[in-house]
Amino acid sequence: MSDAPEPVNDRNAWWRSAVVYQIYIRSFADGNGDGIGDIAGLRARLPYLAELGVDAIWINPWYPSPLHDGGYDVVDFCDIDPVFGTLDEADLLVDEAHGYGIKVLIDIVPNHTSNLHKWFQEALASPPGHPSRDRYHIHDGRGPNASEPPSNWLSVFGGPAWQQMADGQWYLHLFDVSQPDLNWENPEVLREFESILRFWLDRGVDGFRVDVAHGLFKDPSYPDIAEVGDLSVPRQQLGHPFWDRDEVHEIYRRWRSILNAYSDRMMVAEAWVHPDRLPLYIRDDEFHQSFNWDFLAAEWDANEMARVIAESYQRARKVGASPTWVLSNHDVMRHSTRYGLPRGTDWHRWPTEGPHEALDVAAGLRRARAAALITLSLPGSVYLYQGEELGLPEVWDLPESVLEDPTWERSDRKVRGRDGCRVPLPWSLEGPALGFSTAEPWLPQPAAFVGLAASSQAEDAESILTLYRRALALRGEWLTADEEFEMIDLGADTLSYRKGSRMTCVVNMGSADLPLPVGEVILTSAPLKGGELPPDAAAWISLAPSTASSTD
Ligand code: NOJ
Repeated sequence: MSDAPEPVNDRNAWWRSAVVYQIYIRSFADGNGDGIGDIAGLRARLPYLAELGVDAIWINPWYPSPLHDGGYDVVDFCDIDPVFGTLDEADLLVDEAHGYGIKVLIDIVPNHTSNLHKWFQEALASPPGHPSRDRYHIHDGRGPNASEPPSNWLSVFGGPAWQQMADGQWYLHLFDVSQPDLNWENPEVLREFESILRFWLDRGVDGFRVDVAHGLFKDPSYPDIAEVGDLSVPRQQLGHPFWDRDEVHEIYRRWRSILNAYSDRMMVAEAWVHPDRLPLYIRDDEFHQSFNWDFLAAEWDANEMARVIAESYQRARKVGASPTWVLSNHDVMRHSTRYGLPRGTDWHRWPTEGPHEALDVAAGLRRARAAALITLSLPGSVYLYQGEELGLPEVWDLPESVLEDPTWERSDRKVRGRDGCRVPLPWSLEGPALGFSTAEPWLPQPAAFVGLAASSQAEDAESILTLYRRALALRGEWLTADEEFEMIDLGADTLSYRKGSRMTCVVNMGSADLPLPVGEVILTSAPLKGGELPPDAAAWISLAPSTASSTD
């Protein structure tokens, strides 16, 4: 892979090799004892994050919101929900995080607002044709008496994507009915978001994770789509009426020039697009990075992972960007569970009855440990999802009565949705919420979390938390941004790559123990057996011990 062109811009920028820890704030740590995570809880746990060794945090939406979609239904983009704290606390958090050398990214949600946002309330209170309606996609229906929706589009969460209003017009909501889509053809929308970006940049945040970055523009003729099937994984090619339309790029070029006026700020795209289209989002005048869904979706299979890693690296490098690696987030089944499921399981559609019979919990955890050594040794940056360093599993058996993800109701209770990866973290063995809160947590923690509490793992030399801490510390010593990198072939069922002349990562994805290449073993995800790497394990091997602290 050394024939790829050199990255062109921001070569030494912090984000190119950063480890970014995702904070799903409702479930991270509760500081005020109401059972819901908040800024106070996060501030109190900054020392934990510093000790873990992350470079940055990304905080999921913390804005005023009725929380119909976990905060992605925003009422005011320039304030903090009282459940999470205040703007003053947000400022303190940013300062304190910076004091620990940790950057802060926040979530920007430009595709839609909450239906309680003042703009939508104004649109509701105004007659058809009023300018306030043009900030959203609000139109007459079709058919006799205009009683049918303007198109046959479906919501990502299930059911139709159009909702009729009291006066007969319809509004578009690609997500929940409480999340009307904004009309990005309207200059007021454009201006508003530019001022929202500046509001937060002026407060010192280091950048943004941009929600549904591929969805802002819609074909104004709202054509019906032939395939109205599963829209939750939009990987279609060109010409879709609402995903990945070319018009989005002009917006991000404008945003990039805003960020460029500040020093060292970045933005990362949540863009679920065809992999060949992803580089368009990370050209050097648009996003700095984009999440890499192909890697997240890859099966535990040496050929597949090797292909995806090589392609992802090349795609990012081709446009001078740094690749990113992500295994889990608040929208997908946690990977320690995913990797324990039989090959080919459709984990996007979490069935109501759960995976209990098919799931191999121990294999999932072994592979999650190995996967940590994969992501943390690849060139580029890594996004960790809170709790993956504790090996938390997906909680597939939450009682139906506590499910909050709109997917559950909108799928007629067929798809449980994403609550199972959002259960509050187990910090210790104390209290009713395993140290998360002094009150009952907003989602119940399963018995399995007791054995995974951070306080116990911190004392255990064999725990996955200790493994993450070691890997993060060593990553800093061994890795540099944009380093030379090549896949190597060490035989069937083995994933392996070499980083320059310094280090090799070997992953045993087969069923027999694997002899290791010559070199000093720096770190393994499982104990070696007679000097060999057991199945479902990874090893970092130094090829040049004496250069360990060099930064070339
Ligand atoms: C992607 C977010 O990650 C997800 O949680 C949310 O439901 C949708 N965008 C809609 O904002």
